Amino acid sequence: TAAPEAPVVEAVVPVNVKPVSKDVTILFGSQTGNAQGLANKAGKELESRGYKVTVSSMSDFKPNSLKKVENLLIVVSTHGEGDPPDNAISFHEFLHGKRAPKLDELRYSVLSLGDSSYEFFCHTGKEFDQRLEDLGGTRLYPRIDCDLDFDEPAAEWIAGVLAGLDEAQAAGTEPVQSQEAAAPASQALESAYSRTNPFKAEVLENLNLNGRGSNKETRHLELSLEGSGLTFEPGDALGVYPENDPELVDLILEAVKWDATEKVTVNNEEVTLKEALSSRVEIATLTKPVVEKAAQLNSNKDLQSLVSNRDSIKAYIDGRDLLDLIRDFGPWEVSAQDFAGVLRKMPVRLYSIASSLAANPEEVHLTIGAVRYETHGRKRKGVASTQVAERLQPGDTLPVYIQKNQNFRLPQNPDTPIIMVGPGTGVAPFRAFMQEREEIGAEGKSWMFFGDQHFVTDFLYQTEWQKWIKDGVLTRMDVAFSRDQDEKVYVQNRMQEHSKELFQWLEEGAVVYVCGDKNHMAKDVNNTLIDIIEKEGGLSREKAEAYLADMKQNKRYQRDVY
Ligand code: 2AM
Repeated sequence: TAAPEAPVVEAVVPVNVKPVSKDVTILFGSQTGNAQGLANKAGKELESRGYKVTVSSMSDFKPNSLKKVENLLIVVSTHGEGDPPDNAISFHEFLHGKRAPKLDELRYSVLSLGDSSYEFFCHTGKEFDQRLEDLGGTRLYPRIDCDLDFDEPAAEWIAGVLAGLDEAQAAGTEPVQSQEAAAPASQALESAYSRTNPFKAEVLENLNLNGRGSNKETRHLELSLEGSGLTFEPGDALGVYPENDPELVDLILEAVKWDATEKVTVNNEEVTLKEALSSRVEIATLTKPVVEKAAQLNSNKDLQSLVSNRDSIKAYIDGRDLLDLIRDFGPWEVSAQDFAGVLRKMPVRLYSIASSLAANPEEVHLTIGAVRYETHGRKRKGVASTQVAERLQPGDTLPVYIQKNQNFRLPQNPDTPIIMVGPGTGVAPFRAFMQEREEIGAEGKSWMFFGDQHFVTDFLYQTEWQKWIKDGVLTRMDVAFSRDQDEKVYVQNRMQEHSKELFQWLEEGAVVYVCGDKNHMAKDVNNTLIDIIEKEGGLSREKAEAYLADMKQNKRYQRDVY
């Protein structure tokens, strides 16, 4: 008789475990490009470990395909009062709406970017994280909320996500082979300089663009990129590491009576206390975490009671700086090192670049409004803007890097008409656009809306605009000088006045760009665009909103607002 059949050994496929996919979708919602950069970085690292990665802007992702995603990573920033970035809005709405699918099979993790000086710190990331859980998803790795200094926590998150994915793989049937031999991503064309290794750019020119008697001071700064290998496109921003006001540094040193030459370690670097306060840490703004950490350093009763209440911290930090905190809640009987340890790393400032490399090789130009105001009985100054306005001289250097902004780009086709709305310093990227279009001989129509307080003192780059009009690089320009007459006139009023023609341009495929103040100007311009589409298109309010949303989706409505 035949031998009894050998039992089937099912060692390879554990019975209860479903095969785990190596496909990973990374979605980013990014305003300034940081979230996008980190999404790409995570993508590269996962690929080098054998995962199949798709990195996509949330606005390019088809929400219906979410059901098919098994491994989802979200990298998203938060702006203003807890708002998602422009390219996250539609996906955010979809996910929070009734049409959102059940996601029981989903593994996910969220990296959220924010700024702890805002109340709604990392709010959008928190919302995505909670909502994905509510829809049935399982976390691969806990969410990490990053402050402005995001490099280390982001690296930690990527490592954690990889470990989480590897673990899911090990439990499943498709173990990932370690691919340490994988070729490193090509860096051949990239500059050696970056956010974490800024280039010291020499100041070539530093001018005040406003005339005598203006309420404003707007600096035109030209920097040399010679020898850096740094390149950029119109629409990109320049990251700048500023230095604090030396007077404020001295007042702080006086108030605490520590020795300015004492060595402290900040961001893994040993420097004197004075150097630390000058350029390594933030002193001109307070954040909730800083006040909370400072409260652990002394037993001042008022400070203890302040930090016991969220609302009172919020009210206190508004408009105050480190000097206020030190003066209000002494004595500080701790070491300089302990104190330096509670402070936040100096945040970088991003400025929309105002020049084109094609027109100004190896240079980068910025348009910077000097910020000065008074609160709580003391004069206050914008850190970077007044460093530029009051101290930075030709020959000095400024540490900088290029911050790519894929959300603000001239159309690929030079024949495509463009409409630019940029009052005040919002003018900056449009100077770069015009320089670029002039250089490449673009034939597309262009229309600029500029505004500021007074024609005589505040028409930024006036002669350049006039020349572009004369040479036909710029097709038309409308200006709104708000304080040259009794009633205020703003860029959106000028748009309204030409609504018929403006709508005609939209119908012809024009791309609309808005740069400048986010909370007032950009909101009003947005509403005006809807008004114009409604009126001239003969559409309902809803249809007009959909028209603009569609333009946004198709990258025909791009904003660089702050
Ligand atoms: P105002 O300060 O005279 O009111 C650039 O700073 C220009 O933007 C100024 O002329 C300023 O006008 C104007 N501005 C202020 N609020 C605005 C808004 N809601 N919409 C458009 N422009 C605005």
